[in-house]
Amino acid sequence: MAEEQTTPDVDGGEQPAGEPDEREDRKNKVTPRISDELAENMKRGWADTERRDLAPVPQAAHTARRRAALSARFPGERLVVPAGRLKTRSNDTDYPFRAAVEYAYLTGDQTEDGVLILEPRDSGGHEATLYLLPRSDRENGEFWLSGQGELWVGRRTSLTEAGLLYGLPVADVRTVPDLLRAAKGPVRVVRSYDTEVEAALADKVTGERDEELRVFLSELRLVKDDFEIAQLAHACEATARGFEDVVRVLDKARETSERYIEGTFFLRARVEGNDVGYGSICASGPHATTLHWVRNDGPVRPGDLLLLDMGVETTELYTADVTRTLPVDGRFTPLQRKVYDAVFEAQEAGIAAVQPGAKYRDFHAAAQRVLAEKLVEWGLLEGPVERVLDLGLQRRWTLHGTGHMLGMDVHDCAAARRETYVEGTLEPGMCLTVEPGLYFQPDDLTVPEEYRGIGIRIEDDLLVTEDGNRNLSAGLPRGADDVEAWMARLLP
Ligand code: GLY
Ligand code: MN
Ligand code: MN
Repeated sequence: MAEEQTTPDVDGGEQPAGEPDEREDRKNKVTPRISDELAENMKRGWADTERRDLAPVPQAAHTARRRAALSARFPGERLVVPAGRLKTRSNDTDYPFRAAVEYAYLTGDQTEDGVLILEPRDSGGHEATLYLLPRSDRENGEFWLSGQGELWVGRRTSLTEAGLLYGLPVADVRTVPDLLRAAKGPVRVVRSYDTEVEAALADKVTGERDEELRVFLSELRLVKDDFEIAQLAHACEATARGFEDVVRVLDKARETSERYIEGTFFLRARVEGNDVGYGSICASGPHATTLHWVRNDGPVRPGDLLLLDMGVETTELYTADVTRTLPVDGRFTPLQRKVYDAVFEAQEAGIAAVQPGAKYRDFHAAAQRVLAEKLVEWGLLEGPVERVLDLGLQRRWTLHGTGHMLGMDVHDCAAARRETYVEGTLEPGMCLTVEPGLYFQPDDLTVPEEYRGIGIRIEDDLLVTEDGNRNLSAGLPRGADDVEAWMARLLP
């Protein structure tokens, strides 16, 4: 929508309403002069919409506990966690905003430009304060003359309302740069989200110490709490519905392209959640052998396999990460089924290895072993299997690791140390994917021609429980027969 009446370019409302804005000339825009009468008129006649009855957000108790853990890890230090800022897409349009996961995890809020600061108390512990942009001032014209004015961007949560929702003291974010510049004592900041915050702290922080903060917050998220588990379960359920939507319109995709699938799933993600948790991979035919196929502009042909790697992200930013490989016309060919069954068997072995107390590496090793066995059995690799595994020869076709932690990021907890993640031990509450695959590139001369262009992955989201695991994405069929039966029910 184009600006019509005026130039909403007043920062913080300093620009007096009623005077023509000289910046209009610089921008070469034709903007009607604002009369004193109009400026006066715009100040009055607005109802009090303050909400005084707000209950805390469902995760408020969890965010308090997470902040307490953070406080205990860095006693006596000021800790700064920004939400991040809008990023320009082009000219005056921005990318959709997604709050920094560290900020959302510790506050429950997702507002751009927000900052959480944990201030050390002399008596020990920290005082946490959430800094947000207040509601627009009507008196100084900010409401309708500023680009951040609520007339343009919509009503904001007031600072008092935010306090009720998030269970924290809330203050004006415009005070943060001065506050940080004046701060004494040790400070750490979560980097790469807010250049203004980092500039204000430039002479007070070091990369090494800030990295320790980032690592701690990543490791804190390794074990999910009840709120997070419910979010991930919901993400998987919505994702299953999105996959069903796709099968129902496969005829449309056949008439158009992989884009129809991407768009169909995106509709589900936006209606039930916030977004997709990562760029959907809608890979038909040989595109399935490209691990990060996100162009999604190819044809969808009967007889081909369709690899779909897609996840709904919930409104609280938890994402599913699910892959199914489907025969476009609903029936696997014998060779497709042979390869599919091998990947399925590998996934079963991987899932069985997801147990509390097991090493994180175990499920990958279990799945790789099955795939190596199959490749030897089919004559594509020379045995014995032990030799193949020692030399990693199966990796020409298995290509990637068998899974990763899942949560607010699809590749969650990425800053965790090796000893707590890849060399660590599975614990109840961890959530991870198990996603083996086999990929025969279309130009791979080392395999018989009929294998070339086949790419298969099956990916599910597993919660480690006290006595084993729970498959959060079990709402979608996995075995070849079940997939065919499910498609027969849904195909148009
Ligand atoms: N969709 C990204 C992954 O499976 O890791
Ligand atoms: Mn995936
Ligand atoms: Mn994955």
